[in-house]
Amino acid sequence: MEETVQEFIKSTYYKNLSPSDQSKGKPAPSMINQPEEIIESFKLPDPKEIELPEKNIFNLLEKRRSRRAYSKSLLDRNDLSILLYYTQGIKKTLSEGKNMRTVPSAGARHPFETYFYLSKSKELPEGLYYYNPLKHQIDLINKKDLTEELVEGAISQKFIKDSAAIFCWVANYYRTAWRYSERSFRYIHLDGGHICQNLYLVAEALNYGVCAIAAYNDEKMNNLLNINSEDEFVAYMASLGGQRN
Ligand SMILES: Cc1cc2nc3c(=O)[nH]c(=O)nc-3n(C[C@H](O)[C@H](O)[C@H](O)COP(=O)(O)O)c2cc1C
Repeated sequence: MEETVQEFIKSTYYKNLSPSDQSKGKPAPSMINQPEEIIESFKLPDPKEIELPEKNIFNLLEKRRSRRAYSKSLLDRNDLSILLYYTQGIKKTLSEGKNMRTVPSAGARHPFETYFYLSKSKELPEGLYYYNPLKHQIDLINKKDLTEELVEGAISQKFIKDSAAIFCWVANYYRTAWRYSERSFRYIHLDGGHICQNLYLVAEALNYGVCAIAAYNDEKMNNLLNINSEDEFVAYMASLGGQRN
């Protein structure tokens, strides 16, 4: 193991990086990888038109903790809109399709796609969704009850059963590696941390609780989302539900 660690550290030193595909003139990969089959799409309310609770960021940071017990409260469309916007929403598109989002990302490469399983919802059908940040809409891609499969995928962490939604952030490594070569082995996971931290804090402000999840069966999760596991993989997950005091 020690050798693997040393090799990782060395191979990701700036001075040891391979020339990037970008520097070799290879075309840039797509900045979004949408699922091929969509059952139905739902436009989300404009986050700028939703009245937000006036909360103090320092209190939220103090209050934040991983919450694994959830109330029965349902997730409404406005809250879903806010949670998705502040984790992966696009604030501005610059020239050449460079998207500035609500989270930082190395070189604004934004290598993540957001999938989520919605099981407690006020207005939307239950099922597996993909968040399309370009349109701020969600695409239903699987209507089946996937609760048991998700628990199994998350290595039997049963608390996720009571959540209202389970977020799965899928990383497309090449989107970042095209520019940063081996350095992207560090960057992508730093990017993922920002996303999940925003979810923790925004959820806390809306009285939901979150638990980050990184213990899961890779093949099971990749298959469940039906992603192209050669290029993409589930890099991080989080459960979310109403806070129980
Ligand atoms: C990268 C990462 C992976 C985690 N994976 C899991 C997990 O699979 N299951 C779980 O119950 N908690 C998981 N957690 C939550 C940690 O256990 C939790 O953050 C830690 O105990 C500190 O508690 P706090 O978040 O309440 O401050 C994870 C947290 C991080 C940052």
